Amino acid sequence: MNNENQYRLTGPFREVLTMTDLPLKGALQDQQLHIEKNAGILIKGDRIERIADFELLRSESSYPDLQLTLVEEDTVVIPGMIDVHTHIAFAGTRANDFALRNAGSSYLEIAESGGGIWSTVKDTRAATTDDLVHLILERAAALIRQGITTIEVKSGYGLNVEEELKILRAIKLAAKTCKAKLISTCLAAHTLPKDFEGSHEAYLEILVKELFPVLKEEQLSNRIDAFVEKSAFSKEQIKPYFEAARALGFDITVHADQFSTSGSEVAVSFAARSADHLESSGSAEIELLAASDVIPVALPGASMGIGCAFTPARRLLDAGASLAIATDWNPGSAPMGHLLTQASVLACFEKLSNAEVFAGVTYRAAAALGLSDRGLLSKGAKADFVLFPTDSIKEITYHQGLLAPAQVWIDGAVVFDHN
Ligand code: NIG
Ligand code: FE
Repeated sequence: MNNENQYRLTGPFREVLTMTDLPLKGALQDQQLHIEKNAGILIKGDRIERIADFELLRSESSYPDLQLTLVEEDTVVIPGMIDVHTHIAFAGTRANDFALRNAGSSYLEIAESGGGIWSTVKDTRAATTDDLVHLILERAAALIRQGITTIEVKSGYGLNVEEELKILRAIKLAAKTCKAKLISTCLAAHTLPKDFEGSHEAYLEILVKELFPVLKEEQLSNRIDAFVEKSAFSKEQIKPYFEAARALGFDITVHADQFSTSGSEVAVSFAARSADHLESSGSAEIELLAASDVIPVALPGASMGIGCAFTPARRLLDAGASLAIATDWNPGSAPMGHLLTQASVLACFEKLSNAEVFAGVTYRAAAALGLSDRGLLSKGAKADFVLFPTDSIKEITYHQGLLAPAQVWIDGAVVFDHN
């Protein structure tokens, strides 16, 4: 545990990307980025105290007993990244789905013929809580090694009250020992379970009556997600569900416009934190999102996993919307789980500036979770940051995920060191 009053200085870094003083919405240019050269990061407890010239910080007398962590090689630093959309609480594999898709079957056809979400539900139901905790921690460790320091984790492969609770309890248990901050989301409205004898409406009513109160009682999650889609829940079916969630004070997030539109409209009408996917969004949806406070979340890993269009990120930003970028790591549509690779590839196809990519995985992602103390490096922010072994921030996206972090810091402590 770090001594709360001890000042610690690390550096010198060739560049520190602070992501400060940038707007939440709209297009960004690289010239807007604040990059501190030859910088030091001064830490107090688990928070950033100051980012400034390294020699200046070292020589100032106002920091008694300054503890130094010197960096010898060329190194640049970015804020700890935030993955706002993952489904890492699952068991099993869908390698078979992947092969079938690449042989010509569609995601929805595979789901209808026994693969898809339901096959992961069967595997996840067969797993114990301990199995799930282990799987979550293993995947979270892989994300931490990439430089991700806050991870959203959805349930959604239980699809009945008891099994959804098992998954959410596993996420809560994993969060106790995980070095990254885990933020859980209840996605019990992922699809209508095949073994449920009743309507979509009846299933959702049971969740409201029997699952929502336990989420509150056990503090398992304060976020509710739903897959609004022809193959899952329609906007009419989901309305009473989200109304009930809102009335209980849950934050809302939506799997929106993945294969057909209407989800973004639902997200905007419920003032959701975010609308995620949006691969099928057109001009009307883009305008609606841009005029709202909902954060659009691009999931390039799902486009790459399925082989479909990317989220119209450029058009969203140019229309004045915000944009976060997340992995959607799940066994079906997005098995890769590598954020920088996916964000860098999205940048090539959608023509995103480095500023827009870094914003999408840092402070704009934090906003999608309602958090303002991370995703940027300034006084009072969490001391979560990532060191890359290079001399320029530009090298990070250029290498499209292949340039791996040298070190990852969370709450002012090194949690991953490449050496
Ligand atoms: O975000 N679209 C719905 N849910 C996930 C995929 C889930 C699955 O295929 O297992 C997604 O892509
Ligand atoms: Fe998803």
